[in-house]
Amino acid sequence: MNLSQKDKLYNWHPYTQHKTVGLLPAIVKGKDALLWDENGKEYIDAIASWWVNPFGHSNQVIADAIFKQLTTLEHVLFGGFTHNVAVELAEKLLSILPNNQKKIFYSDNGSTAVEVAIKVALQYNYNKGIKKTKIIAFEDAFHGDTFGAMAASGISFFTEAFKGSLLEVTRIPVPNNENNNQVLQQLENLVKTNDYAAFIFEPLVLGAAGMVMYPPEVLNQLIAICKQNNVFTIADEVMTGFGKTGKTFACDYLVEKPDMMCLSKALTGGTIPLAITTFSQEIFEGFYDDDTNKALFHGHTFTANPTGCAAALASISLLENHEMQANILRINQSHLEFERKIKNHPKVKTTRVLGVIFALEIKTESQESYYGTMRNKLYNFFIERGIILRPVGNIIYILPPYIITKNQLQKVYATIEKALEIV
Ligand SMILES: Cc1ncc(COP(=O)(O)O)c(C=O)c1O
Repeated sequence: MNLSQKDKLYNWHPYTQHKTVGLLPAIVKGKDALLWDENGKEYIDAIASWWVNPFGHSNQVIADAIFKQLTTLEHVLFGGFTHNVAVELAEKLLSILPNNQKKIFYSDNGSTAVEVAIKVALQYNYNKGIKKTKIIAFEDAFHGDTFGAMAASGISFFTEAFKGSLLEVTRIPVPNNENNNQVLQQLENLVKTNDYAAFIFEPLVLGAAGMVMYPPEVLNQLIAICKQNNVFTIADEVMTGFGKTGKTFACDYLVEKPDMMCLSKALTGGTIPLAITTFSQEIFEGFYDDDTNKALFHGHTFTANPTGCAAALASISLLENHEMQANILRINQSHLEFERKIKNHPKVKTTRVLGVIFALEIKTESQESYYGTMRNKLYNFFIERGIILRPVGNIIYILPPYIITKNQLQKVYATIEKALEIV
Protein backbone atom coordinates (compact mmCIF):
# COMPACT_ATOMS: atom_id res chain seq x y z
CA MET A 1 0.00 0.00 0.00
CA ASN A 2 1.25 3.48 -0.77
CA LEU A 3 0.83 6.47 1.55
CA SER A 4 -2.39 7.69 -0.04
CA GLN A 5 -3.97 4.26 0.39
CA LYS A 6 -2.87 3.98 4.02
CA ASP A 7 -4.14 7.48 4.65
CA LYS A 8 -7.57 6.41 3.41
CA LEU A 9 -7.55 3.64 6.01
CA TYR A 10 -6.52 5.70 9.02
CA ASN A 11 -7.09 9.44 8.68
CA TRP A 12 -10.13 11.69 8.88
CA HIS A 13 -9.51 14.92 6.92
CA PRO A 14 -11.01 18.38 7.48
CA TYR A 15 -13.94 19.54 5.31
CA THR A 16 -13.97 16.14 3.59
CA GLN A 17 -16.80 13.75 2.72
CA HIS A 18 -14.80 10.52 2.76
CA LYS A 19 -17.46 8.53 0.94
CA THR A 20 -17.15 10.57 -2.23
CA VAL A 21 -13.53 11.66 -2.18
CA GLY A 22 -10.81 9.60 -3.86
CA LEU A 23 -7.25 9.03 -2.72
CA LEU A 24 -5.52 12.21 -1.60
CA PRO A 25 -2.04 13.08 -2.89
CA ALA A 26 0.57 12.29 -0.22
CA ILE A 27 3.08 15.12 -0.04
CA VAL A 28 6.56 14.05 0.98
CA LYS A 29 8.66 17.16 0.34
CA GLY A 30 8.35 20.93 0.03
CA LYS A 31 10.74 23.68 -0.99
CA ASP A 32 9.85 27.32 -1.60
CA ALA A 33 6.58 27.46 -3.58
CA LEU A 34 6.78 23.79 -4.61
CA LEU A 35 5.53 20.52 -3.12
CA TRP A 36 6.19 16.96 -4.31
CA ASP A 37 4.02 13.90 -3.76
CA GLU A 38 5.10 10.30 -3.19
CA ASN A 39 5.09 9.65 -6.96
CA GLY A 40 7.40 12.59 -7.62
CA LYS A 41 4.65 14.80 -9.06
CA GLU A 42 5.34 18.51 -8.55
CA TYR A 43 2.74 21.04 -7.38
CA ILE A 44 2.86 24.83 -7.21
CA ASP A 45 1.34 25.82 -3.87
CA ALA A 46 -0.61 28.84 -5.15
CA ILE A 47 -2.53 29.32 -1.88
CA ALA A 48 0.45 29.05 0.48
CA SER A 49 -1.11 25.97 2.12
CA TRP A 50 -4.23 27.74 3.43
CA TRP A 51 -2.42 31.09 3.63
CA VAL A 52 0.18 30.14 6.24
CA ASN A 53 3.35 29.94 4.22
CA PRO A 54 4.50 33.29 2.76
CA PHE A 55 8.25 32.57 2.91
CA GLY A 56 8.10 29.17 1.23
CA HIS A 57 8.22 25.58 2.36
CA SER A 58 11.21 24.27 4.35
CA ASN A 59 12.55 27.77 4.84
CA GLN A 60 16.11 27.53 6.15
CA VAL A 61 16.03 30.69 8.30
CA ILE A 62 12.94 29.55 10.19
CA ALA A 63 14.21 25.96 10.40
CA ASP A 64 17.50 27.17 11.94
CA ALA A 65 15.64 29.32 14.49
CA ILE A 66 13.42 26.37 15.44
CA PHE A 67 16.38 24.00 15.77
CA LYS A 68 18.26 26.46 17.96
CA GLN A 69 15.21 26.94 20.17
CA LEU A 70 14.48 23.22 20.38
CA THR A 71 17.97 22.58 21.67
CA THR A 72 17.85 25.51 24.13
CA LEU A 73 14.32 25.47 25.57
CA GLU A 74 11.62 23.57 23.69
CA HIS A 75 8.78 24.33 26.09
CA VAL A 76 7.93 25.63 29.52
CA LEU A 77 4.50 26.22 30.99
CA PHE A 78 3.39 29.83 30.63
CA GLY A 79 1.23 29.74 33.75
CA GLY A 80 3.48 31.01 36.53
CA PHE A 81 6.52 31.36 34.23
CA THR A 82 7.70 33.42 31.31
CA HIS A 83 10.61 33.00 28.89
CA ASN A 84 12.87 35.10 26.72
CA VAL A 85 11.28 34.40 23.32
CA ALA A 86 7.73 35.18 24.51
CA VAL A 87 8.99 38.52 25.81
CA GLU A 88 11.00 39.22 22.67
CA LEU A 89 8.11 38.32 20.35
CA ALA A 90 5.62 40.42 22.34
CA GLU A 91 8.00 43.39 22.23
CA LYS A 92 8.56 42.94 18.49
CA LEU A 93 4.85 42.58 17.67
CA LEU A 94 3.87 45.61 19.74
CA SER A 95 6.41 47.64 17.77
CA ILE A 96 4.77 46.74 14.43
CA LEU A 97 1.08 46.55 15.44
CA PRO A 98 -1.17 49.65 15.53
CA ASN A 99 0.07 51.64 18.50
CA ASN A 100 -3.11 51.27 20.57
CA GLN A 101 -2.32 47.55 20.96
CA LYS A 102 -0.57 47.05 24.31
CA LYS A 103 -0.96 43.44 25.47
CA ILE A 104 -0.28 40.06 23.85
CA PHE A 105 -2.18 36.86 24.71
CA TYR A 106 -0.88 33.60 23.25
CA SER A 107 -2.84 30.58 22.02
CA ASP A 108 -2.57 27.91 19.30
CA ASN A 109 -4.61 28.62 16.16
CA GLY A 110 -6.84 31.16 14.45
CA SER A 111 -10.04 29.87 16.03
CA THR A 112 -8.65 30.09 19.56
CA ALA A 113 -7.32 33.61 18.86
CA VAL A 114 -10.92 34.56 17.99
CA GLU A 115 -12.37 32.59 20.89
CA VAL A 116 -10.15 34.54 23.31
CA ALA A 117 -11.20 37.89 21.81
CA ILE A 118 -14.90 37.05 22.12
CA LYS A 119 -14.52 35.78 25.69
CA VAL A 120 -12.59 38.91 26.64
CA ALA A 121 -15.29 41.16 25.16
CA LEU A 122 -17.98 39.34 27.15
CA GLN A 123 -16.04 39.09 30.40
CA TYR A 124 -14.92 42.73 30.29
CA ASN A 125 -18.59 43.71 30.58
CA TYR A 126 -19.36 40.97 33.10
CA ASN A 127 -16.50 42.20 35.31
CA LYS A 128 -18.10 45.64 35.33
CA GLY A 129 -21.60 44.32 36.01
CA ILE A 130 -22.81 45.36 32.53
CA LYS A 131 -25.12 43.01 30.63
CA LYS A 132 -23.78 42.85 27.08
CA THR A 133 -23.95 39.29 25.83
CA LYS A 134 -24.27 39.48 22.04
CA ILE A 135 -21.84 40.20 19.26
CA ILE A 136 -22.10 41.60 15.73
CA ALA A 137 -20.43 40.04 12.68
CA PHE A 138 -20.58 40.20 8.90
CA GLU A 139 -22.78 37.88 6.87
CA ASP A 140 -20.42 35.45 5.06
CA ALA A 141 -17.64 35.99 7.61
CA PHE A 142 -15.39 33.10 8.61
CA HIS A 143 -13.67 33.18 11.99
CA GLY A 144 -12.95 29.52 12.66
CA ASP A 145 -14.50 26.25 13.79
CA THR A 146 -14.55 26.33 17.59
CA PHE A 147 -17.90 27.31 19.14
CA GLY A 148 -17.37 31.04 19.64
CA ALA A 149 -15.59 31.44 16.32
CA MET A 150 -18.25 29.34 14.62
CA ALA A 151 -21.01 31.51 16.07
CA ALA A 152 -19.33 34.57 14.59
CA SER A 153 -18.97 32.87 11.21
CA GLY A 154 -21.72 33.32 8.68
CA ILE A 155 -21.15 30.56 6.15
CA SER A 156 -24.15 28.45 6.91
CA PHE A 157 -23.30 24.86 6.07
CA PHE A 158 -20.17 25.06 8.26
CA THR A 159 -22.37 25.93 11.22
CA GLU A 160 -25.87 24.65 10.36
CA ALA A 161 -25.73 21.55 12.60
CA PHE A 162 -24.89 23.64 15.67
CA LYS A 163 -27.36 26.49 15.19
CA GLY A 164 -29.17 25.95 18.48
CA SER A 165 -25.98 25.77 20.54
CA LEU A 166 -24.30 29.01 19.53
CA LEU A 167 -23.70 32.40 21.10
CA GLU A 168 -26.15 35.05 19.94
CA VAL A 169 -24.72 36.89 16.95
CA THR A 170 -26.41 39.50 14.77
CA ARG A 171 -25.15 39.81 11.21
CA ILE A 172 -24.82 42.84 9.02
CA PRO A 173 -24.15 42.70 5.26
CA VAL A 174 -20.62 43.17 3.94
CA PRO A 175 -20.35 46.71 2.53
CA ASN A 176 -20.27 46.69 -1.28
CA ASN A 177 -20.35 50.45 -2.00
CA GLU A 178 -24.00 50.30 -3.05
CA ASN A 179 -25.21 49.31 0.43
CA ASN A 180 -22.67 51.25 2.54
CA ASN A 181 -25.19 53.66 4.07
CA GLN A 182 -27.59 50.85 4.86
CA VAL A 183 -24.82 48.82 6.57
CA LEU A 184 -23.71 51.84 8.62
CA GLN A 185 -27.29 52.53 9.65
CA GLN A 186 -27.89 48.90 10.57
CA LEU A 187 -24.79 48.85 12.78
CA GLU A 188 -25.78 52.12 14.40
CA ASN A 189 -29.25 50.75 15.24
CA LEU A 190 -27.73 47.63 16.80
CA VAL A 191 -25.08 49.29 18.94
CA LYS A 192 -27.62 51.77 20.31
CA THR A 193 -29.50 48.88 21.97
CA ASN A 194 -26.60 48.39 24.45
CA ASP A 195 -26.89 44.61 24.04
CA TYR A 196 -23.64 44.13 22.13
CA ALA A 197 -20.18 43.54 23.56
CA ALA A 198 -18.26 43.54 20.26
CA PHE A 199 -18.23 43.78 16.49
CA ILE A 200 -15.87 41.24 14.89
CA PHE A 201 -14.72 41.51 11.27
CA GLU A 202 -12.09 40.37 8.79
CA PRO A 203 -10.56 43.72 7.82
CA LEU A 204 -10.79 44.56 4.08
CA VAL A 205 -10.88 40.95 2.83
CA LEU A 206 -13.25 38.12 3.80
CA GLY A 207 -11.01 35.18 2.98
CA ALA A 208 -13.11 32.04 3.18
CA ALA A 209 -16.08 33.85 1.62
CA GLY A 210 -13.99 33.98 -1.58
CA MET A 211 -11.65 36.93 -1.00
CA VAL A 212 -14.58 39.36 -0.86
CA MET A 213 -13.12 42.88 -0.54
CA TYR A 214 -14.45 46.15 0.85
CA PRO A 215 -12.71 49.52 1.26
CA PRO A 216 -11.03 50.93 4.40
CA GLU A 217 -13.16 54.10 4.35
CA VAL A 218 -16.35 52.27 5.28
CA LEU A 219 -14.56 50.11 7.87
CA ASN A 220 -13.25 53.31 9.49
CA GLN A 221 -16.84 54.50 9.78
CA LEU A 222 -18.05 51.17 11.20
CA ILE A 223 -15.30 51.17 13.84
CA ALA A 224 -16.05 54.81 14.72
CA ILE A 225 -19.74 53.99 15.30
CA CYS A 226 -18.73 51.17 17.67
CA LYS A 227 -16.31 53.40 19.54
CA GLN A 228 -18.94 56.13 20.01
CA ASN A 229 -21.27 53.51 21.50
CA ASN A 230 -18.82 51.59 23.70
CA VAL A 231 -18.85 48.42 21.62
CA PHE A 232 -15.44 46.78 21.21
CA THR A 233 -14.06 46.09 17.74
CA ILE A 234 -12.17 42.89 16.95
CA ALA A 235 -10.07 42.77 13.78
CA ASP A 236 -9.57 39.14 12.79
CA GLU A 237 -6.27 39.35 10.87
CA VAL A 238 -5.71 35.59 10.95
CA MET A 239 -5.75 35.56 7.14
CA THR A 240 -4.80 39.16 6.28
CA GLY A 241 -1.88 39.57 8.71
CA PHE A 242 1.81 39.68 7.84
CA GLY A 243 1.82 41.28 4.41
CA LYS A 244 -1.05 39.63 2.52
CA THR A 245 -2.83 42.91 1.77
CA GLY A 246 0.39 44.73 0.82
CA LYS A 247 0.83 46.25 4.28
CA THR A 248 1.97 44.36 7.38
CA PHE A 249 -1.60 44.34 8.70
CA ALA A 250 -4.85 45.20 6.91
CA CYS A 251 -5.50 47.53 9.86
CA ASP A 252 -2.54 49.62 8.67
CA TYR A 253 -4.92 50.94 5.96
CA LEU A 254 -7.25 52.25 8.70
CA VAL A 255 -7.36 55.54 10.57
CA GLU A 256 -9.63 54.07 13.26
CA LYS A 257 -7.86 51.24 15.09
CA PRO A 258 -9.58 48.15 16.50
CA ASP A 259 -9.55 47.33 20.24
CA MET A 260 -8.44 43.74 19.66
CA MET A 261 -6.63 41.87 16.91
CA CYS A 262 -6.38 38.14 16.14
CA LEU A 263 -3.24 36.74 14.50
CA SER A 264 -2.16 33.27 13.42
CA LYS A 265 -1.49 31.48 10.08
CA ALA A 266 1.56 33.32 8.63
CA LEU A 267 2.72 34.27 12.14
CA THR A 268 5.19 31.37 12.18
CA GLY A 269 5.66 31.15 8.41
CA GLY A 270 3.61 27.96 8.26
CA THR A 271 5.80 25.97 10.63
CA ILE A 272 4.42 25.70 14.16
CA PRO A 273 0.81 26.30 15.27
CA LEU A 274 0.72 29.55 17.23
CA ALA A 275 -1.80 32.34 17.60
CA ILE A 276 -2.02 35.67 19.33
CA THR A 277 -4.82 37.95 20.42
CA THR A 278 -3.75 41.53 21.12
CA PHE A 279 -5.51 44.11 23.26
CA SER A 280 -5.69 47.81 24.04
CA GLN A 281 -4.72 48.97 27.53
CA GLU A 282 -8.37 49.79 28.31
CA ILE A 283 -9.36 46.17 27.79
CA PHE A 284 -6.51 44.82 29.89
CA GLU A 285 -7.51 47.15 32.71
CA GLY A 286 -11.01 45.66 32.75
CA PHE A 287 -9.38 42.49 34.15
CA TYR A 288 -6.74 44.17 36.36
CA ASP A 289 -8.16 44.02 39.86
CA ASP A 290 -7.56 42.90 43.43
CA ASP A 291 -10.31 40.35 42.83
CA THR A 292 -8.82 37.12 41.42
CA ASN A 293 -12.16 36.21 39.87
CA LYS A 294 -11.83 39.13 37.46
CA ALA A 295 -8.76 37.58 35.80
CA LEU A 296 -9.02 35.96 32.38
CA PHE A 297 -9.34 32.26 33.15
CA HIS A 298 -8.42 31.04 29.72
CA GLY A 299 -5.29 29.15 28.69
CA HIS A 300 -3.91 26.30 26.61
CA THR A 301 -1.21 23.82 27.52
CA PHE A 302 1.04 25.01 24.71
CA THR A 303 0.44 28.73 25.34
CA ALA A 304 3.46 30.76 24.15
CA ASN A 305 5.38 27.64 23.16
CA PRO A 306 9.01 28.86 22.88
CA THR A 307 9.65 26.99 19.62
CA GLY A 308 6.62 28.67 18.05
CA CYS A 309 7.74 32.07 19.36
CA ALA A 310 11.23 31.56 17.88
CA ALA A 311 9.64 30.60 14.53
CA ALA A 312 7.50 33.75 14.67
CA LEU A 313 10.50 35.98 15.38
CA ALA A 314 12.36 34.46 12.41
CA SER A 315 9.26 34.87 10.19
CA ILE A 316 8.85 38.53 11.09
CA SER A 317 12.53 39.15 10.32
CA LEU A 318 11.96 37.57 6.88
CA LEU A 319 8.88 39.71 6.29
CA GLU A 320 10.79 42.88 7.13
CA ASN A 321 13.55 42.03 4.68
CA HIS A 322 13.67 44.41 1.66
CA GLU A 323 13.70 41.50 -0.74
CA MET A 324 10.48 40.09 0.75
CA GLN A 325 8.79 43.48 0.56
CA ALA A 326 9.90 43.72 -3.09
CA ASN A 327 8.38 40.28 -3.69
CA ILE A 328 5.03 41.41 -2.28
CA LEU A 329 5.08 44.41 -4.62
CA ARG A 330 6.13 42.25 -7.58
CA ILE A 331 3.24 39.84 -7.03
CA ASN A 332 0.79 42.71 -6.66
CA GLN A 333 1.96 44.27 -9.98
CA SER A 334 1.81 40.91 -11.65
CA HIS A 335 -1.76 40.29 -10.37
CA LEU A 336 -2.84 43.73 -11.62
CA GLU A 337 -1.40 42.95 -15.05
CA PHE A 338 -3.23 39.60 -15.14
CA GLU A 339 -6.41 41.31 -13.97
CA ARG A 340 -6.22 43.80 -16.88
CA LYS A 341 -5.82 40.89 -19.28
CA ILE A 342 -8.56 38.64 -17.90
CA LYS A 343 -11.29 40.96 -16.63
CA ASN A 344 -13.05 41.32 -19.99
CA HIS A 345 -13.06 37.57 -20.67
CA PRO A 346 -16.65 36.58 -21.55
CA LYS A 347 -16.77 34.05 -18.70
CA VAL A 348 -15.46 36.44 -16.04
CA LYS A 349 -18.00 38.27 -13.92
CA THR A 350 -15.61 40.27 -11.76
CA THR A 351 -12.01 40.40 -10.55
CA ARG A 352 -10.32 41.93 -7.50
CA VAL A 353 -6.76 42.43 -6.24
CA LEU A 354 -5.30 43.57 -2.94
CA GLY A 355 -1.64 42.98 -2.06
CA VAL A 356 -0.77 39.40 -3.03
CA ILE A 357 -4.44 38.37 -3.19
CA PHE A 358 -6.11 37.93 -6.58
CA ALA A 359 -9.71 36.72 -7.03
CA LEU A 360 -11.82 36.07 -10.09
CA GLU A 361 -15.54 35.31 -10.11
CA ILE A 362 -16.86 33.19 -12.97
CA LYS A 363 -20.26 34.04 -14.50
CA THR A 364 -22.83 31.40 -13.61
CA GLU A 365 -26.50 30.84 -14.43
CA SER A 366 -27.35 29.97 -10.85
CA GLN A 367 -25.77 30.29 -7.41
CA GLU A 368 -22.77 27.90 -7.15
CA SER A 369 -22.43 26.20 -3.79
CA TYR A 370 -19.21 26.32 -1.76
CA TYR A 371 -18.15 22.75 -2.53
CA GLY A 372 -20.42 22.40 -5.58
CA THR A 373 -19.91 20.82 -9.02
CA MET A 374 -18.12 23.77 -10.60
CA ARG A 375 -15.77 24.07 -7.64
CA ASN A 376 -14.89 20.37 -7.73
CA LYS A 377 -14.37 20.41 -11.50
CA LEU A 378 -12.02 23.38 -11.21
CA TYR A 379 -10.19 21.97 -8.20
CA ASN A 380 -9.49 18.68 -9.98
CA PHE A 381 -8.48 20.50 -13.18
CA PHE A 382 -5.84 22.46 -11.24
CA ILE A 383 -4.58 19.45 -9.24
CA GLU A 384 -4.18 17.37 -12.42
CA ARG A 385 -1.98 20.17 -13.79
CA GLY A 386 0.11 20.44 -10.63
CA ILE A 387 -1.40 23.66 -9.30
CA ILE A 388 -2.88 23.88 -5.80
CA LEU A 389 -5.82 26.26 -5.93
CA ARG A 390 -9.02 25.75 -3.90
CA PRO A 391 -11.85 27.62 -5.62
CA VAL A 392 -14.74 28.74 -3.46
CA GLY A 393 -17.93 28.01 -5.43
CA ASN A 394 -17.42 29.99 -8.65
CA ILE A 395 -14.54 32.06 -7.26
CA ILE A 396 -10.93 31.23 -8.10
CA TYR A 397 -8.37 33.00 -5.96
CA ILE A 398 -4.58 33.06 -5.72
CA LEU A 399 -2.69 33.80 -2.51
CA PRO A 400 0.83 32.57 -3.25
CA PRO A 401 3.93 32.39 -1.08
CA TYR A 402 5.76 35.70 -1.51
CA ILE A 403 8.79 33.86 -2.91
CA ILE A 404 6.86 32.33 -5.82
CA THR A 405 8.88 32.90 -8.99
CA LYS A 406 7.71 34.91 -12.00
CA ASN A 407 7.52 31.75 -14.11
CA GLN A 408 5.55 29.82 -11.50
CA LEU A 409 3.07 32.67 -11.19
CA GLN A 410 2.70 32.87 -14.99
CA LYS A 411 1.98 29.13 -15.03
CA VAL A 412 -0.77 29.64 -12.43
CA TYR A 413 -2.34 32.44 -14.52
CA ALA A 414 -2.11 30.39 -17.72
CA THR A 415 -3.77 27.41 -16.03
CA ILE A 416 -6.60 29.64 -14.77
CA GLU A 417 -7.11 30.90 -18.34
CA LYS A 418 -7.31 27.29 -19.55
CA ALA A 419 -9.73 26.44 -16.73
CA LEU A 420 -12.13 29.09 -18.02
CA GLU A 421 -12.49 26.98 -21.19
CA ILE A 422 -13.92 24.03 -19.25
CA VAL A 423 -16.62 25.83 -17.26
C1 LIG B 1 -10.14 35.09 9.15
C2 LIG B 1 -9.96 33.76 9.80
N1 LIG B 1 -10.12 33.66 11.13
C3 LIG B 1 -9.96 32.49 11.77
C4 LIG B 1 -9.64 31.35 11.07
C5 LIG B 1 -9.46 30.04 11.81
O1 LIG B 1 -8.13 29.71 11.89
P1 LIG B 1 -7.70 28.20 12.25
O2 LIG B 1 -8.07 27.39 11.06
O3 LIG B 1 -6.22 28.29 12.47
O4 LIG B 1 -8.45 27.80 13.47
C6 LIG B 1 -9.45 31.40 9.70
C7 LIG B 1 -9.10 30.20 8.93
O5 LIG B 1 -9.13 30.15 7.74
C8 LIG B 1 -9.62 32.64 9.03
O6 LIG B 1 -9.49 32.77 7.72
